[in-house]
Amino acid sequence: MPAATSIAAIAIQRLLPVAVVESVNQGVDLADALARGGITVLEVTLRTDAGLAAIAEISSSRPEMVVGAGTVLTAKAAERAIAAGATFVVSPGLDAGIVQVCVTHGVAVLPGVCTPSEVLQALRLGLSVLKFFPAEQMGGVATLKALSSVFAEVSFVPTGGVTPANLAAYLALTNVAACGSSWLAETALLRAGDLDELERRARAACIQVEATR
Ligand code: 3PG
Repeated sequence: MPAATSIAAIAIQRLLPVAVVESVNQGVDLADALARGGITVLEVTLRTDAGLAAIAEISSSRPEMVVGAGTVLTAKAAERAIAAGATFVVSPGLDAGIVQVCVTHGVAVLPGVCTPSEVLQALRLGLSVLKFFPAEQMGGVATLKALSSVFAEVSFVPTGGVTPANLAAYLALTNVAACGSSWLAETALLRAGDLDELERRARAACIQVEATR
C-alpha cells in the first residue's frame, strides 16, 4: 500500500487504536471487533513476541484492515515489520534510520516528536504527519495549539493519555490528523476476550469523530 494511502486512511478514520497483543488470535479478534465498530486502521505494537505475527496474519487475512506496526525502535525492527506486512510504521521517537527504511520501502512512517526541534528534524526528513508523544504528559491540546502557529503544514497524531474524555478536544484541533489510543484496544479486554466492549468502544469513538465532521 502506498505511504500516502495508509496516511490517508488514518486521517480519514481520525482514530488509531494502539494494541499490545499476547497472541495472534488476540490481534485478529481485535481487528474484527474494531471493524464491526467502524474502525479499519490498527497499530499493533512490537512490544510482545506475538506482535509481528499478528501483523502478518491481519494483513493477509483481513485485507480491509490497514494494519501497521507500533513501538518500532530500530531500523531492523522497521524492516521486519514491513516484511510482515505492516502498511505503516510508528515509533515513539524520531530516528533517521527508521525513517530511511520506511522511505526506501515506500511505507508510511509516523515518528514520535514532542518538541519544536524534533518537528524541524522531521520536516528536514520530508515528513509532515507526526506522532505527538506522549501527548498528555507533553502538554496535550495546549502544546498542539502552540505548535500549530509555527508549523502550519504539520499534522499530528497525539498519542499517550488520549481517552473518551479528551478525545473531542484533540479532534477539534485543525492540526490533529488522528488520535492514537490504547483505550480502543485495552489489554485487559483482549485478555478477557471482551470483544463486545471493544466493538462498543470503537463505535462510541466513531460517533465522537462524526460529531467533529
Ligand atoms: C503508545 O504506544 O503509543 C502509547 O503508549 C499509547 O498510549 P495510551 O496507552 O495512553 O493510549
